[in-house]
Amino acid sequence: MNSNGPDDPARSGGQELSFRENHGAERLLCAVQELWRARDLQSILQFTARAARELTGADGASFVLRDGELCHYAQEDAISSLWQGRRFPMSSCVSGWVMQHRSPAVIDDIALDPRVPLDVYRPTFVRSMAMVPIHARVPLGALGIYWRSARVIATQELTMLQALADGAALAMENILLREGADRAAARMSELEAATRDLAEQCQALADGQRQNDALNELLAHDLRSPAAGIMLVARSRLRDPDIPEREQHRWSKVLCSAELIQRTAMNLLDTSSRQMGALVPRLEEIDLAALFREMAGILEPHAASREQRIEVRPGAPGGCRVRADGDLLRRVLQNLLDNALRHGPARSAVRVEARRLDARWVEVAVRDEGPGIPVHLRDHIFDRYARLDGRSSCLSAGRGLGLTFCKLAVEAHGGTIEVRDNEGGGSCFCVLLPA
Ligand SMILES: Nc1ncnc2c1ncn2[C@@H]1O[C@H](COP(=O)(O)OP(=O)(O)OP(=O)(O)O)[C@@H](O)[C@H]1O
Ligand SMILES: [Mg+2]
Repeated sequence: MNSNGPDDPARSGGQELSFRENHGAERLLCAVQELWRARDLQSILQFTARAARELTGADGASFVLRDGELCHYAQEDAISSLWQGRRFPMSSCVSGWVMQHRSPAVIDDIALDPRVPLDVYRPTFVRSMAMVPIHARVPLGALGIYWRSARVIATQELTMLQALADGAALAMENILLREGADRAAARMSELEAATRDLAEQCQALADGQRQNDALNELLAHDLRSPAAGIMLVARSRLRDPDIPEREQHRWSKVLCSAELIQRTAMNLLDTSSRQMGALVPRLEEIDLAALFREMAGILEPHAASREQRIEVRPGAPGGCRVRADGDLLRRVLQNLLDNALRHGPARSAVRVEARRLDARWVEVAVRDEGPGIPVHLRDHIFDRYARLDGRSSCLSAGRGLGLTFCKLAVEAHGGTIEVRDNEGGGSCFCVLLPA
């Protein structure tokens, strides 16, 4: 028999194989293109298992996923069921060997290969098999094909299987990347939504703050005149030399309360956000000694209620003079002295003093014997509405506006205000003013 003739069975077999190969290559190409279109992992698993069986004409195929140190038989397509859904340790199954070695396993007869756990295979139809790794940057799994008879597995079948596994690996990576991008996009839109919410909340807060300020201003405006009226009556009653002692005590209290209302109203007005930065001092020559005495006189009833003393030390002989706005400076001192008296203990002394530092600066200090202010809170107490709550020494709750006003007023003069420790305990509020 002419081995090259047209009837040569080997040749005709070769022609048939070559036909199958061409046909198979086309179908492989279609399968890989199909894999690229897959939108999720499950579609990749199903499609790859089916294509592996169809392309090689095997009796079964399985897609195994790596799950840590386990092999998860995630998808199969076979004449009868194999191990779908089961997990085996990497060390005790063929797919584990394939993933660990990153190379194919070709087993013509399972009974003769030590890698095959026969107990697991015996109940199934499998007698021969091939398995290839599915790996992109890391091993993702393995793809296996199975036959019901022992047979020699052709190189072309193995090549086809590996090409399909490579296509599946790329498709899986593609999905992982897309999921990462989707997650990033979702996170980005969450962030955008959160930023929008925050901006709306800020706007609402700012609107609320403006309304609050407008109400505060209205309230402050309406309170000032009646408070001034009450102060006038109380002062004239207290000037009466024949006033009985009990009544004097009562009128002092009335005067203190009316002064507090007026001071709070003025602070509210001057620290409202609409007024911030709008304080313009009307400068005049101020004699600090006279101003200190005046303020001590005004706050005398307040001090007397807890047997406190206000000591006035106007500096060098002849006193200190500054060019400042008398009304603003009066209110700065009133706020500082009010704080000092309120935070100082009963029968303590509050001292107000001035000294010229040099040709340009005069320092005014208000000292008390109270608890002092912790270093880390010294800047904070000048903030609007800032109050150091929960301190036993604090006698009556204020609104946290006094020091904010003081800072605004002093800075409007080009000066500074800060708090230090008073020698011997308590706090010392130091105001530096241009002379
Ligand atoms: N001399 C002081 N000694 C100790 N703590 C002080 C003293 N002065 C101010 N503080 C603390 O600083 C906070 C802010 O003072 P600020 O004068 O601004 O507000 P307030 O006195 O509470 O209220 P307001 O002055 O508006 O009536 C006070 O609540 C108080 O806790
Ligand atoms: Mg105050």
